[in-house]
Amino acid sequence: MPVPDLDESDPCGPQSYGPVPPDTVVAIDGPAGSGKSTTARALADRLDLLYVDSGAMYRALTWAAAAAGVDPHDEASLLRLLDGADLTLQSSRGETAVFWNGRDISAAVRTPEIEADVSAVSAHASVRERMVARQRAMGRRQGVVMEGRDIGTVVFPLASAKIYLDATLEARAERRLRQHRRRGLTVDRGEVLREVEARDRRDSERTASPLRIPPDAVVIDNSTLTLDDQLEATEAAVRRLLAYRRPAAAGRDGELSLRYRIAFAVFGSVGRFTGLRVIGREHANLHGCILAPNHVSNWDPPALGAALSGKNHIRAIAKEELFRLPPSAMLYRFLYAIPIKRNIYDTAAFDRAAQVLAEGQNLLFFPEGMRRVYGEPGPVRNGLGLLMQRTGAPAVPIFLRGTLAPQPGGGPRAPLEVSLAPPIRLHALPVLGRRLEPRALSREIGRLFEAIYREMQERSAERHPFTDWEREAAERVRAAIERKEARTFHNRRPL
Ligand code: DC
Repeated sequence: MPVPDLDESDPCGPQSYGPVPPDTVVAIDGPAGSGKSTTARALADRLDLLYVDSGAMYRALTWAAAAAGVDPHDEASLLRLLDGADLTLQSSRGETAVFWNGRDISAAVRTPEIEADVSAVSAHASVRERMVARQRAMGRRQGVVMEGRDIGTVVFPLASAKIYLDATLEARAERRLRQHRRRGLTVDRGEVLREVEARDRRDSERTASPLRIPPDAVVIDNSTLTLDDQLEATEAAVRRLLAYRRPAAAGRDGELSLRYRIAFAVFGSVGRFTGLRVIGREHANLHGCILAPNHVSNWDPPALGAALSGKNHIRAIAKEELFRLPPSAMLYRFLYAIPIKRNIYDTAAFDRAAQVLAEGQNLLFFPEGMRRVYGEPGPVRNGLGLLMQRTGAPAVPIFLRGTLAPQPGGGPRAPLEVSLAPPIRLHALPVLGRRLEPRALSREIGRLFEAIYREMQERSAERHPFTDWEREAAERVRAAIERKEARTFHNRRPL
């Protein structure tokens, strides 16, 4: 069975199997004809979640454009069509029913003519933005199994479980051919093969959210599987991924060192004094994980210390400049932090980091490499991906907000928040490692974390809209950060 063995000895999970929570989001991606629809629909049935076929939404717009005589390359007219439209999907036993302004267009969206144009329509960044917003809204209202091309990478970067279905070109073309025939269409085998190949190319080479394997997806190649076997494999993988998401139990490690107990006591009281809120605290019992926060301020490490205080063994990686002068030098030495040179690939620092993780301690590492503009997380540099590939350690995305200027009692400038997401694991590593060089794979991992930070920021903004003070603060630091970035990383070979 092509389901990768999830590592039961992984100190961060899986915890236990259990019922599927009603807000579960399962993302299923893959190329045309990989069996996504059949699998996703059956899986949704079994897990009692809503099934959403995101491809049907792009097909519906393609149909509407054809009906209105709009060119699939005319982005502005497509947007006008979409913005005014009532586009609804109804999941039924057979294929998804699609309604455009109340009209049932289910059969009309599945013709070869629509398939020829749908890639062009779905390649427009602004069209995608609108569709993604609609898709996210569905996933927020209730648990879903959503299938498409960018569900795990863009729509739900923090999906509860991600599956990437794949099959050889020949197997996929054969399935499309049978589908067309079932619908009574006469089509030529060679033509279908060429059409599927061309669509693969268009969907994977476009600049806006191309089809990619999410690094944390379980990849299932179903070229030679029966439908039943494929469904079994997918359901088993989803249940195991859900088990991994359950928070770990506390207290599996020994006592914290005296230095850390002192530091956590101090950070904890700073946190209480500044009204720090921790979102996702249930994910805060961590062992052998990379702690991967966005970085906006020198207050970030103490805020993290306050959020994670108590039980987590943490070692931090920090730029070596901080070890040169007091008071930072004293603090970072006191906490056994690991200095890193940022203008070279610092092998010694990465070796020590790997060792810390192997010992089951958590490693605090800022994946953006320096403080970034407030409210605009990313870009994530290659170090995180290289470290994850090398060590196999999961990485916990952490989103910091309000640390630019913490105020006593949590003043009105910005909410002070540390949000923790469940650990991200590279389940697709065996497949991606064969297809991509380590650096290219690190870039993919970086992209995923960038999408995750944006998502966490969006969720934070839903809790508290961004304040004027935060917007002004972002503008104040922007120029300084851009100058610093040029100084820190210029003339350096990318990792
Ligand atoms: O899965 P499908 O064949 O119904 O998808 C139709 C087209 O829509 C596909 O060629 C690419 C596009 N699509 C997309 O760009 N993003 C998605 N999430 C789903 C589909």
